[in-house]
Amino acid sequence: MDKEQLRSQQWFGKKGKDGFIYRAWMKNQGIPAHELQGKPVIGICNTWSELTPCNAHFRELAESVKHGVYEAGGFPVEFPVMSLGETLIKPTAMLYRNLVSMDVEESIRANPIDGVVLLCGCDKTTPALVMGACSVNIPTIVVSGGPMLTGKYRGHDISTSDVWRFSEAHRAGKMTDEELFTAEACMLRSRGHCAVMGTASTMACMVESLGLTLPENAAIPAADSRRKVLAHLSGSRIVDMVRENLRLSDILTREAFENAITVNAAIGGSTNFVIHLLAIAARIGVPLTMDDFNNVKSTPLLANLQPSGKYFMEDFYYAGGLPALMKELDKVLHRDSITVSGKAISENYIKSECFNREMIATMDEPFNPVAGIMVVKGNLSENGAVVKPSAATPALMTHTGRAVVFENIEDYKAKIDNPNLDVDESCVLVLKNVGPKGYPGMPEVGNMSIPKKLLDKGVTDMVRISDGRMSGTGFGTVVLHVSPEAAVGGTLAIVQNGDIIKLDVAAGLLHVELSDVEISERKSRLKVHENLSSRGYVWLYQTHVEQAHLGADMDFLKGASGSEVLRDSH
Ligand code: FES
Repeated sequence: MDKEQLRSQQWFGKKGKDGFIYRAWMKNQGIPAHELQGKPVIGICNTWSELTPCNAHFRELAESVKHGVYEAGGFPVEFPVMSLGETLIKPTAMLYRNLVSMDVEESIRANPIDGVVLLCGCDKTTPALVMGACSVNIPTIVVSGGPMLTGKYRGHDISTSDVWRFSEAHRAGKMTDEELFTAEACMLRSRGHCAVMGTASTMACMVESLGLTLPENAAIPAADSRRKVLAHLSGSRIVDMVRENLRLSDILTREAFENAITVNAAIGGSTNFVIHLLAIAARIGVPLTMDDFNNVKSTPLLANLQPSGKYFMEDFYYAGGLPALMKELDKVLHRDSITVSGKAISENYIKSECFNREMIATMDEPFNPVAGIMVVKGNLSENGAVVKPSAATPALMTHTGRAVVFENIEDYKAKIDNPNLDVDESCVLVLKNVGPKGYPGMPEVGNMSIPKKLLDKGVTDMVRISDGRMSGTGFGTVVLHVSPEAAVGGTLAIVQNGDIIKLDVAAGLLHVELSDVEISERKSRLKVHENLSSRGYVWLYQTHVEQAHLGADMDFLKGASGSEVLRDSH
């Protein structure tokens, strides 16, 4: 790409009053004139925030990116966008994923940026930034923040999945308040995002398998100096991507999405992968449906990572990381898919080695033949729902049981530990109105706690069904993302205590044993959902959010508007 063709030159290359203004106000930052005279301008889209602890090291990471940009002859400009800290934001970070994507999209388009580096870490920051960038479609590279070091507690390795184990142990009286308090600091002991194959790690693997990062992005720990090296090299590479005009749409092909789905099965990635990948595909214009996720039944689980296995992201990196795992998948991947390197994805992994076969298994001897995310459909989820078999109890994957229904999250909290709750371990727990529109924002509450009286009996898993999501660090026989959700009149809304529900994951079935007539009759008596916000972003979200099987994006955000700015301002 010639200097004159750079987007940034529509600002900095202008003559007269406009050019004066565009350049002069940049120069107040001490920027020499030559930086604005035809160097590729690289935006560094930063989700740094002290309210997003997983991304709190991003200002430092951005400095490494800048070194790389300068080295390759570009000019870096760092800009902030809204950040989403999974643990602090209420009611749920997912409510704001689409808002951040709008922030990213408009920030890129509106500014003199030729290429962009997306600094992503905590769960939603990755899909939000990629979605926004897709709707502009300029050269883009992703740098993830990296996972935390493995937690250490009383001689044991721990990480986020232990939150659920510890809290259940505490509820069962097997862990004291003091022990729980001590475990807090032992678990989160370094910079970075959650150290298991939760949603953040899943997203980091997703962007690497889509071809949006340099190799090894997914697993280098945040505290490892090689994370900074990766950021530096990514800064250099984006400058060349601008010169080559290598854009997101060149990389994000149908084959790239299929690669990501295959890899997600082999790593035991989060169920949240489905909803985010669908939304990204819709932004870039690649047809992708829920059924595409069922097409990887032949891919086994290769990564022995929590919550499906034993190890942590740090171990994954030392064992060879995602390139070593992708090498095992060589025969089932689209080897020629182009990545940000401009070369085929197979070049990213073909020379890699595995240093720990207990951590990264082979296709011939997988860690678990059961992998991936299965889609179940039926009269209870016409558009589909998802289950993660590797995190479920095999004996419950085919199960018929009596429904114990919670009408909403408040109802669930009020009843779940009530000793008089009419429930036994064969029952199916049903939670309504935690979907995109109904909650709003589809929180991670789908892996409901086991009722205390059953927990006391030693019950550790039950079939649980909802229109919400589950934390990527969660586990259990949990059916999630039921679509249509209860709040828009899906069949889930009319399920009552005592109804018989049948789940058959292998057959892809989720069914409530009611006749069509009974379902219609109950639906005709259904009250309209009345939890709509009256103003602001939440109103916009609830008015326009689509159902989970479409990615829960807002209808007016699908697709792209490109990088053209329609009007000049001066
Ligand atoms: Fe940020 Fe887990 S809370 S990645």
